[in-house]
Amino acid sequence: MIHFFKQKPYLQDFIPENHVDIHSHLLPNIDDGARTIEETETLLLGLEKIGIKKFVTTPHVMGEIWKNSSEDITEKKENTLQNLSINGIRSRFKAAAEYMIDAEFNELFKKEKLLTVKENYVLVEISYLNPPIQLFDILFELQVAGYKPILAHPERYNFYHNSIDNYKKLKNAGCYFQMNMLSANGYYGEKVAKSADALLKNNLIDFIGSDVHHTRHLDFLNKKIVLKNFDYLPQVFQNNSIFDF
Ligand SMILES: [Fe+2]
Repeated sequence: MIHFFKQKPYLQDFIPENHVDIHSHLLPNIDDGARTIEETETLLLGLEKIGIKKFVTTPHVMGEIWKNSSEDITEKKENTLQNLSINGIRSRFKAAAEYMIDAEFNELFKKEKLLTVKENYVLVEISYLNPPIQLFDILFELQVAGYKPILAHPERYNFYHNSIDNYKKLKNAGCYFQMNMLSANGYYGEKVAKSADALLKNNLIDFIGSDVHHTRHLDFLNKKIVLKNFDYLPQVFQNNSIFDF
């Protein structure tokens, strides 16, 4: 009964000193995240207010839509860092990518080195409409190529919501799971929050990321958590420390 009356906390109550955010869209004009360097600054300052100062930011690499090469991303990061330091912003960030698992990705990792969050951990996502036909084959080959796939926001894939076994299959196939902070704040609605709750309760979530694209996301990060199983969050935040730099 005590649990029933327990007050819902804020996300920032859980964010440890030195937290590393491993999923965001902070680089300007490279994907559907920040559009200008000013927006990048606004997002960084907003995130700093809730206690996040270190980032491995992850622009989309997605088929014909976001054809960002590793060189494009690295160059954009260098330019952005230069501009930010001129303006006295001290957040530290590196750049990796959020790779959509699609036909192009299936070719890409076989012919060139991917941008990783750290060492061989690579952030991947799948379509929200349906899982890729050869998902398990691609996951297998990706690991044969030496990578450890971190699946971004598993709680957001509606087609997996009907059974926790769908998620267990992905874990057994070698995926790490990264939940979005925004799912804890209810940004994506009740079904996604419920899915995040179930994943936490089953100890299936490994890491957490903001997935911040714009200031509406910042507003939500400042709201109270809607999750029931927030007791699992400290461990998840702790797990992110392997990405510290
Ligand atoms: Fe993302």
